[in-house]
Amino acid sequence: MTYTVPKLKDFSAETLDKRVAELVAALEAEVNTVASEAEWKVLRDRWMARKTGILSQINEAWLKAAPAKAKPEVGRKVNEARLLIEHHIVGKREWAAKGTLRDLMLGERLDITLPGIRRPLGAEHPIIKTMNEIVSVFRNLGYSVEEGPEIETDYYNFEALNFPPNHPARDTQDTLFIANQESKPLRDRLLLRTHTSPVQIRTMEKMKPPVRVVCPGKVHRNDAPDATHSPIFHQVEGLAVDTNITFCDLKGTLDHAMKALFGSSVKTRFYPSYFPFTEPSADVQISCIFCGGTGYRDGGRCPNCKASGWIELLGCGMVDPNVYGFVDYDARKVSGFAFGMGVERIAILKYGVDDIQLFFNGDVRFLEQFG
Ligand code: DAH
Repeated sequence: MTYTVPKLKDFSAETLDKRVAELVAALEAEVNTVASEAEWKVLRDRWMARKTGILSQINEAWLKAAPAKAKPEVGRKVNEARLLIEHHIVGKREWAAKGTLRDLMLGERLDITLPGIRRPLGAEHPIIKTMNEIVSVFRNLGYSVEEGPEIETDYYNFEALNFPPNHPARDTQDTLFIANQESKPLRDRLLLRTHTSPVQIRTMEKMKPPVRVVCPGKVHRNDAPDATHSPIFHQVEGLAVDTNITFCDLKGTLDHAMKALFGSSVKTRFYPSYFPFTEPSADVQISCIFCGGTGYRDGGRCPNCKASGWIELLGCGMVDPNVYGFVDYDARKVSGFAFGMGVERIAILKYGVDDIQLFFNGDVRFLEQFG
């Protein structure tokens, strides 16, 4: 029912309070139905138009009609009603106009001299940023990107990578196993992957050579956190399998990648190492980016490379023929190389970070420096 202004016979405070309450209830109900700017204008005119609006009507019907004695009190009540009408209708205006700047300014509701609300832009996390950078170096060489699950089976994390059950090389990766799986055969037991190498196996199972992939991702080890260890970290794995791939290809590819990541003046060196899934295996070292490979800086021994001039960065090698046996590749026809690098390690060197925990503490003062 639409509200009409009642004439008053009784001008007592009690009656006035009742009439004002009815008016306000009607006002609120009408304000709530407004859904557009056009509807708001109709509402405004109905309540606030100069001669015919409800506000003018209560002035006439209540205030002017009141006996002289009651006038001060009626005046106060009518004024109260006026403020409420203005408050409701002007407040609704911003909403109905969707707060366009012009409307807000016309309504004098916006003080453009006040400082604005600052909405800080988020920044890419330094680890994601570094991981993307590494991946893009290899994408530019024609590699595609593969991902795999973080909860792996023993088979993919170890066995198919040529870590036989009970092989001592398993102990080099302190593994977090999912509990209560003793009843399952070893190869089916679940664990948190300790490296991204299982994605190599998953890729070769579904793709025939030629294969060129990088596999970025999160890995887990049962390591206590300190300045250089974290139970969660990230790796980027690489795999290239084709006919006639040689150790020269591996060297050329990784030398290029290190120059792309650390600058064209870095040198690389391949140092004999051991991984069950590569033969031969190597650790890649780069010339120390802090002392230029000299081993000395600021008149003393370089602490970053312990005066050796070299920094060890990643593992690599030629895929062991045994691994091809697990994925149905013909080891007589194909050859390939693989590598795996720690993203945190690379980020630490690139950005001069001295504690790996900074990447995981979520301190905005640290993180926003990478924006
Ligand atoms: N998976 C090894 C690790 O986490 C890193 C690695 C070394 C990956 C040599 C490889 C590789 O693909 O060929 O320690």
